[in-house]
Amino acid sequence: MSLPDSVTDVVAYSSGNHAQAVARAASRRGMRAVIVMPEDAPALKIEGTRAYGAEIVTYDRYAESREKIGGTIAAERNAELIRPSDFSQLGTEIKRLEEGGADMIHVDVMDGHFVPNLTIGPPVIKALRKHCSLKFDVHLMISPVHKYIEAYADAGADIITVHPEATDNLEDSINKIKDLKKNVGVSLNPETSIDLIKNLLNKIDLVLIMSVNPGFGGQKFMPEVLEKIKELKKIREIEKLNFDIEIDGGINFDNCKIAIEAGANILVSGTTVFKSNDGDIKKNINLLKTK
Ligand code: DX5
Ligand code: ZN
Repeated sequence: MSLPDSVTDVVAYSSGNHAQAVARAASRRGMRAVIVMPEDAPALKIEGTRAYGAEIVTYDRYAESREKIGGTIAAERNAELIRPSDFSQLGTEIKRLEEGGADMIHVDVMDGHFVPNLTIGPPVIKALRKHCSLKFDVHLMISPVHKYIEAYADAGADIITVHPEATDNLEDSINKIKDLKKNVGVSLNPETSIDLIKNLLNKIDLVLIMSVNPGFGGQKFMPEVLEKIKELKKIREIEKLNFDIEIDGGINFDNCKIAIEAGANILVSGTTVFKSNDGDIKKNINLLKTK
C-alpha cells in the first residue's frame, strides 16, 4: 500500500463509520482527505466515505499491519471539530437571526445526490415559515430539481434557486418558478461559467455565486469566483438589468468587503454568523454588514 504523493490535509485510518465522519469534516473545511481503509471494509462504508470527496487507499489487512502505517494517522481528531447545526433548534435559530438583523433566511436544501450531504425538505421549511416574517431564500441543491419546484413554492419559499446542472432545461425551470409567482434564482458552482445563463439573465431575479463547492458549511472561500461577480455586475449595467448578486460559501469578516466591492449585494453566511464571537449572531451580522 502506498499513499498518494500529492498534498493532503488529513490522513486517517478507519474501517467504518469513523471514515465517513473524518471525510465529512475534512470536506466541510475544504481540506483534502485520504482515508486508509482495509480492502474488505463494507462497500457501503467505502462508497459513503468517497461520496464526501475523500480519496480512499485500501490495503490488505492481513498483509500489512496497522502499525506499519501508524505514522500517517495524523488528524483523526478533525472529525470532532466540526459539528452539524443543531437541527432540533432550527426554529429558535431562525428567531435569533431575525432579531439579530438578518435580511433573509437562506435555506440550503441538499439531497445526498447532487451534493454529498442531506438537509431538510418542504415539510420542515413549511413548519419554519410560519414563525418568521423574513423572506425565505431557498437554495435547491437537488437533482432532478424541476419536479420538486412546486413543493418548495407551496412550502413558502420566496426565492427559489436552482443549479443549471440539476435540470434538463434551465429555461423551463425558470419559467415554472415564475409561473408560481416566486423570485427566480440560478446558482453557479465555482467551476460553472456564466456563459450558461447569459441569455437568460433578463428572466432571473438573483444569481447565486458559489464560493465553495456546494455540500457543506465551513469550507474555505474561493476568491477566484469574484471575477464572475465583476463580470455579472458589468453585464447588469450594460444591459440595464436588475438581478441581485448573492455569494455563498466561506464568507467571513476578512472577505465580506471584497465580495461586496466585486458586486455582490447579498452575502450568505453560516459559520461566521453562528460561530464567531461566541455565537453572538447580532454582532456577527452587524460586522458582516459594516466591515
Ligand atoms: C454550501 C453551503 C454553504 C453554507 C454557508 O453548500 O451552501 O455555503 O450555506 O456556510 P458557510 O458560511 O459556513 O460557508
Ligand atoms: Zn446555499
